[in-house]
This record gives sequence, C-alpha cells and structure tokens, in this order.
Amino acid sequence: MQTVVLKGRGDLAEWRDAARALLADGVDPAAVDWRCGDGAGLFGAAVPPAGAAGASVPRGFIELAAAVVCHRDPGRFALLYRLLVRLQGQRALLDLATDPDVVAARRLEKAVRRDSHKMKAFVRFNELPAAGPRRRFAAWFEPDHHIVARTAPFFARRFADMDWMILTPQGSAVFTDGALAVTDEPAARPDLADPTAALWLTYYASIFNPARVKVKAMQAEMPKKYWKNLPEAGLIADLLAQAPARVAAMATSEAAPAFHARLQARRAEAPAPPPPSSADTLASLRAAARGCTRCPLHGQATQTVFGEGPPRAALMIVGEQPGDREDLAGRPFVGPAGQVLDAALAAAGIDRAGIYVTNAVKHFKHELRGRRRLHRTPDMPEVEQCRWWLAREIALVAPRLVVAMGATALLALTGDRGRLADRRGRLLPLAPGRDLLVTVHPSYLLRLPDPAARAAETAAFHADLALAAATLAA
Ligand code: URA
Repeated sequence: MQTVVLKGRGDLAEWRDAARALLADGVDPAAVDWRCGDGAGLFGAAVPPAGAAGASVPRGFIELAAAVVCHRDPGRFALLYRLLVRLQGQRALLDLATDPDVVAARRLEKAVRRDSHKMKAFVRFNELPAAGPRRRFAAWFEPDHHIVARTAPFFARRFADMDWMILTPQGSAVFTDGALAVTDEPAARPDLADPTAALWLTYYASIFNPARVKVKAMQAEMPKKYWKNLPEAGLIADLLAQAPARVAAMATSEAAPAFHARLQARRAEAPAPPPPSSADTLASLRAAARGCTRCPLHGQATQTVFGEGPPRAALMIVGEQPGDREDLAGRPFVGPAGQVLDAALAAAGIDRAGIYVTNAVKHFKHELRGRRRLHRTPDMPEVEQCRWWLAREIALVAPRLVVAMGATALLALTGDRGRLADRRGRLLPLAPGRDLLVTVHPSYLLRLPDPAARAAETAAFHADLALAAATLAA
C-alpha cells in the first residue's frame, strides 16, 4: 500500500501531480491510501516526482475533478484516481451515466456546485468603517465544502469596486485594491454589525409577495441551515403568518375595473390634443401623448403613462410598459416592479427624484382573466410606434446615461433584438456624449421562483445600478 499525503485540504494541482506520478508508475488505485494533512511532505517516498508523465484525459474530466476535489468526502482523491486510471482504457467512461464511479463523482460534483451557488446567493456583506478611499465589507458564511477558492472569483468580478473579505470555517477570501487572496485556514466567526441592516430588512420585507407563498419550494432553495447567517430569515415567520390576511386585503381592495371604466369615460370626453411638433417642451409632449392613438394599445389602457422626472436629468431609466398599478395611477414604476427599482436605486445611492423614469411603451398591454388584467409583452409594431415618444423624451431630457431595463427597452432604444445577457452590465455608446447601460427588468426578479437565484440576480441588478451611479459621479 502506498500512502499519498496531500497538504492542507488538497487542491486540484496537487492531486493531479501526485496522480500523474502514480499513473506513470502503473500503481493500482486499490494500492493507494490518499490522505490530507500538513507536515508529512507531499506524498510517500515511493511516488515518483510530480509531472513524471502526462496523463491524457477528456476535458470533461478536468472540470469534474476541479469540482470533486472541493468536496469534503475523504474518498474523493481515491475516486478521482480510479476514474483517471480507468479513463486510460475507456475514453468514453464519463458518458456511462450508470457506472458506479461516474455516479459517485457526479454526485460530489453536484453537491459542490450547489454549495457554490448557495454561497453566491447567501453571502451577506456588512459594511466596515472605511480605512481609505474604497468601501470595506466583511461577510461570514458556512459552506459545506471547500468552495471558497472556487467561488471567490465570482465575488471579485461582481464587487470589484470595493474591498471585502468572506470568512468561513473552510478558509477565507480577501479582496483588497483589486487583488484577491484565498487561504484554506479556518476563520473564526467575526462579530459583524452593519448600520444599514434595518434598511435591508425593509427591502427584503417589501419584495416578499404574500400571494406567492410556496413554503416547500422556498425551504428547498433556502435550506434552514443557512438561515442563521441570513438577517432576512428572521422575517420569514412573521411574513408567512401575515400572508393570508394580506392576500385577502389585496383581493378586497381590487377596485381596478370600476376605476378603469371611470377613467376611460373621462378620457373619451377630453378634447383631442394638438399634434406634437419638434419645438415641444416635455410638458407639451406629455400633454400630446395623452391622446396618442399611434397603435391599438390606447384602446385597452386606462391612460397614457408618460415618463416623469426633472426635465434635464442626467440619468434616464427606461422600462418596458406600465403595469396594472401604473396604468391606474398614470405614473411609471409605482407598483411592485417600482418597489424593486426603488430599493435598487436606494442601494446605489441614486435619488429617484433626480432621475427621469419612463417606459418604451406608454400604454398598458394586457389580457383580462376574470377581474385580473394580466401583463402581455408589447410586440414589435407597438414598440416601433412608441419609439417616436421615447426618442422625443431623450432629445428633450438629453441624459448623459440611459439605463435600459429589459429586452423591450433595449429594443426600443437601439433596435437591437439580441440577447440581453450579451450587452448587460457595461457601458455602450448610444449617441455622442451619451451611454447606454443594459440591465434586467425588475419584474424578472419578482418572477424568479428560486429565492437563491432571486437574491443573486437582485445583487447583480444592484451592481448594475451602482455602475450607473459611479458613471454619473465620474
Ligand atoms: N414595468 C415597467 O416596465 N414599467 C412600469 O412602469 C411598471 C412596470
């Protein structure tokens, strides 16, 4: 029996070097005892020096091994070596989904990926007093596996403009002035308190939708073991207890149809506005838009929902079209999507009163289901007709930066029907002296059923708006 001792937890490079040497020597997997631990040297004397021979493996195996070595299972190194040896004679081994070694490795890989995904979703930063020009944050997280090194680059990309550390019992990641350092040393739980914690709780409570409570699905995505490190988890019991009463209150206050009919009647009585001209002011443009019949959507909406904000705002945010609440109120982003937007603006330090908020399409497109008016995405001709108004708004407001939230806004602003993900999160030229920043629509965040995915996407949305704030500040 040959003993191989890997340092610390044993990372991929270390295992690979040892495994290559064993393979070159033709050592039988059953004759190797893999161990982790400090001090005993890299591996037993019988193993030839690292890199004695290169093993040829399919690419998928490298990816699989990179995940599997992060698992806490002490048998992971032996399992990988067994697969490595078998792959030499069986190139398609990994395609055998029922092979016991492949099944075992895939199970470990899945657990590691899931743990990493949870870390991305459930790390909660607390702000520390600044020690220089960059803001500083710290977080405590308890992963199941050795995923800190694997997951830290995600945070380095996402939070590149701040200094931060993520401490865990499996090691830590520290990001200072753009440099990432990762260690395997277990960290002690720090005592963290953030003065903005109450604000975050308000935010989390406000995005809870009492009409969409699915406790089992929520717990499957956000297992209870994470709750102790999630400040918002303390809200869950109360929010769930209050949900039925809140849903009942929402149902009884559902006065939309009557209100809608009254407004429609009022609109029919209003005199037709004069046609807009190129000498418009924002006020006259808004007045003209009230009578817009450029596309059939005016027939089903309560009223035109025009943009609002200072006439010379440096930042313009463009959404898709008014929703049910906006249609009734006559103002953009005052419903649930508006709350998500407001929270993100607040997190980015952007005062909504100082920006211009509008939509690509100015009338609410929907279909009736009983008493409910369900949103429908505007189609190309509708977007095309409404671009006229949007172009006039941009010309009059002359913003330095335009944020397109969602694919419809992107389409209206650029005519671009490409993938939003390809353009998201970076500045693109829109016109001389004017940039475009593409991000997701807040309603997309509200529709995500998986709380972990929603938290990660919300963080990304906040980061996009933080970029908008930084661009305007620069
Ligand atoms: N969604 C939008 O795109 N705009 C609004 O005003 C409200 C919801």
